[in-house]
Amino acid sequence: MKTSKSAQAIELSLTRHLFNMAKEYDNVIDLTLGDPDLPPSETIRKAACDAVMAGKTRYSANAGLLSLREVIAENFEKEYSVAVQPSKNVMVTVGGMEALYLSLASIVDDGDEVIIFAPYYVNYRQMVRMCGGVPVVINTLEENGYAIKEDALRAAITEKTIAVIINTPSNPTGAVLNYSSLEAVAKVAEEYDLTVISDEVYKNLIYDNKQHCSIINIDGMAKRTLVIDSLSKRFAMTGYRVGFAVGYEEIIANMTKLQENIAACAPLPSQHAGIAAFLNCADDRFIVDEFEERRNFMYEAINSIEGLSCIKPAATFYLFVNIDSLGLDSKSFAYQLLEKEQVAVVPGITYGDNYDNYFRIAYTMKIDVLEKAVERIRRFVEGLDK
Ligand SMILES: Cc1ncc(COP(=O)(O)O)c(C=O)c1O
Repeated sequence: MKTSKSAQAIELSLTRHLFNMAKEYDNVIDLTLGDPDLPPSETIRKAACDAVMAGKTRYSANAGLLSLREVIAENFEKEYSVAVQPSKNVMVTVGGMEALYLSLASIVDDGDEVIIFAPYYVNYRQMVRMCGGVPVVINTLEENGYAIKEDALRAAITEKTIAVIINTPSNPTGAVLNYSSLEAVAKVAEEYDLTVISDEVYKNLIYDNKQHCSIINIDGMAKRTLVIDSLSKRFAMTGYRVGFAVGYEEIIANMTKLQENIAACAPLPSQHAGIAAFLNCADDRFIVDEFEERRNFMYEAINSIEGLSCIKPAATFYLFVNIDSLGLDSKSFAYQLLEKEQVAVVPGITYGDNYDNYFRIAYTMKIDVLEKAVERIRRFVEGLDK
């Protein structure tokens, strides 16, 4: 039986591979997936159950319930100080992932180039390819805080470049893009008439009371930026599958047209839970506080292991750990750690060819479990021939 070339071109990510392997061990601590262990607030859970019991379980408009788009627009205006119209600039999707996919499917033709920055969220690369495009990767460096340099961006532009994807705060590094990175992208995007897809799904998991900064707030960028966001991380609603896109009318209209032929709409009970989530935003504070405590613990604990180091992530629930001095590539590190100590992490090579001297930890476990994981990692690293 035939399978398509585009399906064959897509590989199972190492993240999933390690996650699947971890399932075969009986005492494993799995730090692979970015899936918070916390439940959403009771208000959100109740809203989903109420919707089911009230029979609110049919299709919605392809762009999502207008009432949900309204609360998203209201929240967006509050957080970004950018006015958006719910019926024109907002679309509800099946997670942020579908928003990313639909946005790319709306703009990419065969052979079009889309710039992404490494270390990258692996799905960007795959999705660009699924749409017939060519991902063009620019590496960023730990020593620069993973900032984007204008000259590197310019050097990657060709007559086929149509878009840039940025991700702040970042999966896998936990870093936020500084203002000069955003300015560099804005300047080049204006000059070459590029769409900017700005993935901001971790913007509510920023620590130390720092503020999120979005490229859409730079002069002239609202007309070419699509902000991707999600309820998954902010409200711990990963399995509800609700995300959204906010941006210029033309791209939202095209994404909505495609949605009719893909998922029709995000699940309706989840959309109702989403309304409750936005109407009770203050309830999500416990999630940030919990992850900030874990971030502080993990940052200190990992850096106290000789041979491992990482920058203090400003946001998210990831640590991107440097293993340069261990003389082990990232896959060997991850496979051996799993086999010897039953701790599953993601090899850095997943996030770009240049990151084979890193691994990623998702600290989506309670501190007592993280303590055990750190002890096992320490024992493993100390046992290596260095
Ligand atoms: C950078 C980034 N963007 C988007 C997503 C999509 O998340 P969801 O589809 O659950 O909203 C994720 C999930 O891990 C992510 O890490």
